Amino acid sequence: MVLFDRFSIENPNAIIFGTSGSGKSYLVKLEALRYLMTGSDVIIVDPENEYRPLAEAVGGAFHNISLSSDSHLNPFDIPIPGEDEKPEDVLRSNAINLVGLLRIMMGGLNSEEDAIIDQAIMETYAAKDITPESDPKTWNDKVPIMEDLEQVLENMVGTESLVRRLKKFTTGNYAKFFNQKSNVSMNNNLVVFGIRDLEEELRPMAMFIVMRYIWKTATSSLKKRVLVVDEAWVMMKNEDGASFLFGLVKRSRKYWLGVTTITQDVSDFMTSNYGQPIINNSAIKMLLKQSPAVIDRVQKVFNLTDEEKMILLEGSRGEGIFFAGQKRVAIRIVASPTENQIITTSPEELLRIKEKKKRDFLE
Ligand SMILES: Nc1ncnc2c1ncn2[C@@H]1O[C@H](COP(=O)(O)OP(=O)(O)OP(=O)(O)O)[C@@H](O)[C@H]1O
Ligand SMILES: [Mg+2]
Repeated sequence: MVLFDRFSIENPNAIIFGTSGSGKSYLVKLEALRYLMTGSDVIIVDPENEYRPLAEAVGGAFHNISLSSDSHLNPFDIPIPGEDEKPEDVLRSNAINLVGLLRIMMGGLNSEEDAIIDQAIMETYAAKDITPESDPKTWNDKVPIMEDLEQVLENMVGTESLVRRLKKFTTGNYAKFFNQKSNVSMNNNLVVFGIRDLEEELRPMAMFIVMRYIWKTATSSLKKRVLVVDEAWVMMKNEDGASFLFGLVKRSRKYWLGVTTITQDVSDFMTSNYGQPIINNSAIKMLLKQSPAVIDRVQKVFNLTDEEKMILLEGSRGEGIFFAGQKRVAIRIVASPTENQIITTSPEELLRIKEKKKRDFLE
């Protein structure tokens, strides 16, 4: 495999496309192991909870995000402005993407509601003395939660429908995730957020909240980090999620954050307005096996020769094409036996490893 320092080229982002079973997650797990060895942190957003064994094998942290879990993330957490950033700009851009999150949570907002929510968010922070004038170092201790926003909305006129829709997240079952202070530590070289156990309709919101939290971490302390967003279409399904992901990709370099976006279906990805921009801002592109249904699209988007097209149609698991800037090579992903033990998800292999462990234990 090509071992490549993505922080040495024009931007540290990567995209990976390939059909189901083509080896995308396997490739990313292998890459994660190698980045960890070279001292980068790795953060993974995991819609299938399939990176748990990897986290356990290397002493990483796995946070299970679900309505019954004890891991909480507060949507209102806010990045602490860096030396070259104005507090008011940070507050503003934080509010803009929080409106995006609420738009998803509330099932859409009309333009009037949009303006109300925006104002209410700023007031919710202001009520906790989080303003352009207050000292950003004190913000962390005073962050509001969802019910504080509800209270502000209740005191505004013409907000009955908004309050009613928000109640779903501040009371009852959903409040267990959406109405809490954060208690999740990012203090580990490998942190995985698994969202599989969350109701399907909540996953796009959860992914958004997780990514906001990661963004906060990345902007608050500078360190080489790789963020992997597996099955990124969950985030790309709606405009606001896609826009946030693109924002991360676009601004990542400054914060030493390399974002890897993984998707099965190129067509799905390209239906989002942010699909092409994310590709354009990812200097590394890895294409694995493609289906006949999408290959022509892929050929166009990546400007493939007919020979390359054949590689992607007929290649086996783990084979594909690697692009870095203008350069491209055919690749085959091969792990060492030890690496393979840590990252495989093949049921027979897992069983074999388990039995071997049992034998070793008995001997
Ligand atoms: N290069 C490889 N060498 C050996 N085994 C591999 C390789 N790539 C993938 N596998 C195995 O093939 C199976 C499918 O791989 P993987 O989970 O990475 O697919 P995927 O592209 O992520 O699919 P999906 O889109 O469904 O998540 C797994 O059991 C994995 O361990
Ligand atoms: Mg996968």
